[in-house]
Amino acid sequence: MTIQWFPGHMAKARREVSEKLKFVDIVFELVDARLPRSSRNPMLDQIVQQKPRLILLNKADLADPNQTALWTSWFKEQGYEVLAMNAKNDKSVKQIVPAAKKVLAEKLARDKERGIKPRAIRAMVLGIPNVGKSTLLNHLAGKKIASTGNKPGVTKGQQWLRFGSQLELLDTPGILWPKFEDPEVGKRLALTGAIKDDLLHLDDLAIDELGFLRRFYPEQLKERYKLTDEEIFQELPELLMLIAKKRGFKDDYERASEMMIIELRQGRLGRYTLDRFEEYTE
Ligand code: G4P
Repeated sequence: MTIQWFPGHMAKARREVSEKLKFVDIVFELVDARLPRSSRNPMLDQIVQQKPRLILLNKADLADPNQTALWTSWFKEQGYEVLAMNAKNDKSVKQIVPAAKKVLAEKLARDKERGIKPRAIRAMVLGIPNVGKSTLLNHLAGKKIASTGNKPGVTKGQQWLRFGSQLELLDTPGILWPKFEDPEVGKRLALTGAIKDDLLHLDDLAIDELGFLRRFYPEQLKERYKLTDEEIFQELPELLMLIAKKRGFKDDYERASEMMIIELRQGRLGRYTLDRFEEYTE
């Protein structure tokens, strides 16, 4: 694997995020529900520090609900408020304000006691590429409000997006990079589409995908590619070849691999979670 994690990227992102943090009450950390560990930036704690945080397990519609429930409890045990959600879904997105209020409950109560008039909660969205930041911002944004370009430290032209009367969001999300020095993490990020797969061999990825599905979701694999019990337990390269044949790709390994990866990303192989809760907690 030749993928590298560029410290330069990280330093720049860190600077940009730190500058904006002063202007918000809370950070919405977007995490891919299929990758509750691998899609998090390991330096986020350092960057965000004491700023209140709401963890949004996005794309939960694609993830294994049992695993999402386990991960949700785990995040809560770590002291975080967490919401499993789907950024494309109205009902889901509407749960964000109440969840943010829960995180900020003490501060809001204190303000009330002091007679401070309640104002909209100010937030920024943070997350690795492709986790759904723009989708969420587009969904949340009612209208743009005042530019903050005249405030020191905020990028010129930075604007706030208003969601109802209770939430204001910085219109550009903070982009952080995943850390994928661990090849396993790199493969998982590639399988979900978080990093470009042209850096990886498609057939290696597809073989990994097959091994993963066979182990954790054999029924979904069998159903999608019309495979028997016996067929799924042959050697993985042979299994990939068989799927290629069944799909009419003859012996075109590459094409079959690409198809399998696309179908996994699109959820056509059913819901799945690549970061297994047991693997991290055992
Ligand atoms: P980013 O800003 O963090 O880089 O991510 P972006 O919003 O561009 O989302 C990346 C892809 O993930 C998009 O799909 C988007 O539709 C999809 N997505 C975001 N949130 C969710 C979610 O909660 N559930 C599901 N199922 N998908 C989600 P795309 O194929 O790149 O674009 P499009 O075909 O939707 O236009």
